[in-house]
This record gives sequence, C-alpha cells and structure tokens, in this order.
Amino acid sequence: MEAGTAPRVKDAPAPGPAPALVARAAALALLDGALAKRGGLDEALSAGRYLALSPLDRGFARALVMATLRRLGPIDRALDDKLKKEPPAPARNLMRLGLAQAYYLDTPAFAAVDTTVALTPAPLRGLMNAVLRGILRGPPPSEDPETLAPAWLFARWRAAYGEDGARAIAASIALEPATDLTLRDAPEQTLVDALEADLLPGGSLRTRKRGDVATWPGYDSGAWWVQDAAAALPARLLRVSARETALDLCAAPGGKSLQLAAAGAVVTALDKSAGRVRRIEAGLKRTTLSAEIIVADAAAWPDARLFDAVLLDAPCSATGTFRRHPDVLWNARPSDIASLAALQSALLASAAKRVKPGGRLVYSVCSLEAEEGEGQIQDFMAAQPDFVLDPIRPEEAGSPAVSLAREGWLRILPHHMRGGLDGFFVARFRRAG
Ligand SMILES: C[S@@+](CC[C@H](N)C(=O)[O-])C[C@H]1O[C@@H](n2cnc3c(N)ncnc32)[C@H](O)[C@@H]1O
Repeated sequence: MEAGTAPRVKDAPAPGPAPALVARAAALALLDGALAKRGGLDEALSAGRYLALSPLDRGFARALVMATLRRLGPIDRALDDKLKKEPPAPARNLMRLGLAQAYYLDTPAFAAVDTTVALTPAPLRGLMNAVLRGILRGPPPSEDPETLAPAWLFARWRAAYGEDGARAIAASIALEPATDLTLRDAPEQTLVDALEADLLPGGSLRTRKRGDVATWPGYDSGAWWVQDAAAALPARLLRVSARETALDLCAAPGGKSLQLAAAGAVVTALDKSAGRVRRIEAGLKRTTLSAEIIVADAAAWPDARLFDAVLLDAPCSATGTFRRHPDVLWNARPSDIASLAALQSALLASAAKRVKPGGRLVYSVCSLEAEEGEGQIQDFMAAQPDFVLDPIRPEEAGSPAVSLAREGWLRILPHHMRGGLDGFFVARFRRAG
C-alpha cells in the first residue's frame, strides 16, 4: 500500500459514479466509441463493461446514445451557436448527451444538467453548467430535415434525388425503426400473432415487439432472424430453387446466406473476416440450416467452381443503414466512398467469373451513394459484355413499386415504405448461356 493511502474497508462499494450516473457514464462511453471510428458503436455495445450493466441501465444508456446520434446535427448546431470556441475534448460529448436528455428523453432540464455536471471533470464543471443552462433556457433546436444530416451528405443526396428526395431521406434519420424479421419457413399465423407482427409484401415480418430478441417466440427454434425488409430483397431476387448452387461472396453476418439455404439452395458462404464468419455459423446452428463456410478474400479466392447463382452484397459506406446505425453518417468520409467503389468494382469482376453460363448474379449495397450503385453497374456492364441486366419486375419479391428505376434495378430509399426501410441498391444480371 502506498504511504498515506487509507485501507479500503472490505466489501465497501467500489469508488465510482453513484447508481443514477452509471447509465449516463455508460452512455458517454458508447458515444465516445460511436464517434471514434466506423463500427465503433457496435464495438462499444459488445464491450464487457456495457454488458455488465443492469438491463435497466443498459436500456437507458443505449436509448440515450441513439437519441443523441439521431439528432446529432441539431444538437451540434445548438452547441456551435453557444460556444465561442471548441471546449476541451471530454466536454462536447457530455454536452451532447445532456441536451439529448432534456430535449428528446423528457428528462427535466435541471436533472439533465445536474447529472451531466456530476460526470464532468472538475475543471470543466463551470463551463458545462453555464453552456447547458444557457442553451436550455432557449427554444429547442429546429427539426428541419436538412439539419439532421451532415451537410456534405445532404448535398450529395440533393444532387442525386432532388430537394424533396434529400429532405425525405434526411427526415428518416430522426425516426426509430421497427424490427423486421425473415422467416425460415412459410409464415404461420400463430407465429405472426405471437410476434405481434404484420406480414410485409415479400414475406418479411414487421414486429411491434421491443427488447431482447432472444426472448421472443420462435427465437430458440430458429424460426426467424432479424433482417431489415430491404436487406431481405437481394437474396430473394436471386430466385434460387432447391438444389441450385449459390455463392454468397460477402456473407457475414449471414442473413442472406440463411435465406438462400432456407430456399433449398446448396450454399457456399464466403467472407474475409474470420470473426464475422462466426456469426454466420451461429445463425446456421440456431436455424438448423446448412452452408459451406469459407474464410477468404473474395477477389483472390482460388476456387475454380462455377455457381448457378452468385450474390455480391458488397462492403460499402452503409449510408442506407442510418436508421439503425446513425453513427455511419458521422463517421463516413467522401474519400471512403471512392475507395469502397474501387473495392466493389474488383469484387464484382471476381463475382462475375464465378457465375455459370446462363446463371444469375445479384449485386447489392446498403448505400445511398450512386458511385456504389448505379455507377458501379454502368461500369460493370461496359466491361462485361457476357452479362445482361435482368430487369427486376414491378413489386417483384415485395420490393416497393416506387424503388424500381426505369433501367430495371432497385434504388430503395428509406422513405419508400410506410414505417421506413433501409436504403439499398440492387441489380440482377444473367450470364449468356
Ligand atoms: C455488407 S456486409 C455483408 C452482409 C451480409 N451479406 C449479410 O446479409 O449478412 C459486407 C461483408 O463483406 C466482407 N468483406 C469485405 N471485404 C471483403 C473481401 N475482399 N472478400 C470477402 N469479404 C469481404 C466484410 O467482412 C463484411 O462481412
């Protein structure tokens, strides 16, 4: 023991934040993680420190961070109007959480301020108190959709989809999404009812249930998996039949491989990430479906087999997934879009080599950016005369009619279905026989 340190009484509570603050301290760790790097929120949500919280504290911390990320634009505007210069590093995220509690979680302003000040390092407490009280004395920030997105992304969406399109996309940022499920077998009304769900046109379920999905009916027997209604379309549009061979080239965490296997195809699920492949394995085990699993770089996989159907759900900027992952908006950089587009083009060339003559190829990305969708396909068609676009039919597989482009591919925007869905681009090709 160091000289002068009092011995700790055995079993005394460990020093640390008082219980009411634990959840807010956890929210700060989540927000720090979410804004530090791409994928940081998911990483922080699976950290031991977060998982060790009580369900109540975990729920509050998650709700607070999601509310903060969904309104980060308006919150930062309010802060920027008030702050004369950028505050020292730990302060901005605490300020964001304090304002989000008062504006969006119905926490009384005094409680939002007091708990935030209590978490603030001592030298910054005066500043925190003055800034939060000052802002909360005024009206809440504008909810104009344009303020909800980073300015550079809004400008891209405006250029691609027009003013109304961009505003409708951005308005979806603030909305909490429903949970969609894909069924392994044909829908049974008793299960649909038990899941408090509506059956969507393509066969996905949209549930009104909340909370831990592992406690919902049918989870243990693997009767369904969580998958956004838009994310379920690419595998359905591949139209595999029983015993056809299907290659899913960027397969993890595996929702689309499960769909292909459930349709009776002989599936090869490949992904570069050994860690993410474990999630495909867990999904297969729970649903008692089967697939061959390969950990490899899709662009360099030396296997020479050809497949009846190939799915390339390529790595992308994921800007279409902001309803569930609002952090993607704030971590995306214009330079990422260019480098991801180059990767997608290499992966598409590799995918094309693995399609049997007469076979099908579906390309999809959960991105709203044209370079990753339309631009990619135009380059592909110019480079691969062997492949012709196989136009998607109106409302095929439950796709929203409004998402079908004149050319025959899907450009799904988050407001294209009542209650929302992820933004996706999907195109289907056939290789000459
Ligand atoms: C959009 S996610 C796929 C989601 C998946 N299709 C699903 O429905 O669950 C993209 C995946 O591509 C994988 N990936 C990235 N680069 C790759 C490469 N060069 N070869 C194979 N997989 C790659 C990532 O590990 C990631 O799992």
